[in-house]
Amino acid sequence: MHVVKVELGARSYDILIGAKLEKLGEEMGRLRFGRKTAVVTNPTVNRLYGQRVLKALAAADFLAMPVEVPDGEQYKTLDWANAVFTALLINTFDRRSPLVALGGGVIGDLTGFAASCYMRGVPFIQVPTTLLAMVDSSVGGKTGVNHPMGKNMIGAFYQPRLVLMDLDTLKTLPKEEFLSGMAEVIKYGVIWDRELFDFLDKNREKVLAQEQGPLGHIIRRSCEIKADVVSKDEREGGLRAILNLGHTVGHAVETLSNYTVRHGEAVAIGMVYAAKLAHRSGQCDARVPERVEKLVRDYGLPFSLSVLKRRPSVTELMDAIQVDKKAEGGKVRLVLPKKVGEVVMSGEWDEQQLRALLAE
Ligand SMILES: NC(=O)c1ccc[n+]([C@@H]2O[C@H](COP(=O)([O-])OP(=O)(O)OC[C@H]3O[C@@H](n4cnc5c(N)ncnc54)[C@H](O)[C@@H]3O)[C@@H](O)[C@H]2O)c1
Repeated sequence: MHVVKVELGARSYDILIGAKLEKLGEEMGRLRFGRKTAVVTNPTVNRLYGQRVLKALAAADFLAMPVEVPDGEQYKTLDWANAVFTALLINTFDRRSPLVALGGGVIGDLTGFAASCYMRGVPFIQVPTTLLAMVDSSVGGKTGVNHPMGKNMIGAFYQPRLVLMDLDTLKTLPKEEFLSGMAEVIKYGVIWDRELFDFLDKNREKVLAQEQGPLGHIIRRSCEIKADVVSKDEREGGLRAILNLGHTVGHAVETLSNYTVRHGEAVAIGMVYAAKLAHRSGQCDARVPERVEKLVRDYGLPFSLSVLKRRPSVTELMDAIQVDKKAEGGKVRLVLPKKVGEVVMSGEWDEQQLRALLAE
């Protein structure tokens, strides 16, 4: 097991990478919560891992209760957060009762949000079971639900008290979901760590075969980078925005596909476009978009808009991108690579060049 610390003063917490699910009760026991705990999960994950988690909690004297939310992004809503509140109220959960999020990013975001609101905040623990949740969504404290008018529009910054990752849970994850998480790992290489990027390049087969050593290494590096960035800028006042590489065009792709393109797949496409735009606007040399696109392709991830069943017009794409523009007060600042391992947040890009790229 490897421990990565997220340093946030009184709100610091450990990420336990490679801990068995059976250790959950013992690890939570150290944190002096109330005895009553709810394991928020979905039917898919509950069937696979629910019993092991409940048993681990019972063994450490927790009174654990499962709370199921249906499986799917469309259930990451206020209504389902409310269903969680109702289950907690019926069972007289109090302010010391922790919530455990057992599942992927959807369960993690929803549970964290519910924990931030229930009785003005109860402790919560992330037990991510997808690669994307392990390397990205379970770390850093962004929680939330979707609104019919926009994804992740309702939420809170609310840090977990502990993150426990059992890498064996990835063995049951469908391949496409694993690859979707790989896009976020590639992202860390591009924004922060050339060595990680080169490692992914050299060890592709081992990573894709989920060999323990290489898999543990890339998850650990991703968590270290995210922990580092979040520790320096918890609320995205500046630096944290670099984690959004590929997310502007990616967000447009997700929206226009009606969420049939997975988050990580959309980020992969977005990264390729960001690298091409960076080159065209003179921020990096031609090798950068070449290398980014090659790695994305090598990992079997989509790299162009042809992934969309219906090719949207450039205007539709630009409109979808404007959603970010509103959020940023009128100016779209994009994360653009300068080289592999370094990015800039920049408003210095030409709209015509982006339009031309999207039209190709
Ligand atoms: N909070 C953040 O910082 C952050 C960052 C990135 C993404 N997100 C959010 O994360 C969500 C996407 O997360 P995701 O990609 O994990 O999707 P997900 O939670 O929908 O999980 C994908 C699928 O895998 C299944 N699954 C989960 N673990 C499994 C396992 N071990 N074996 C078999 N099946 C398993 C799930 O039931 C689901 O069907 C989006 O809502 C996105 O907005 C949040």
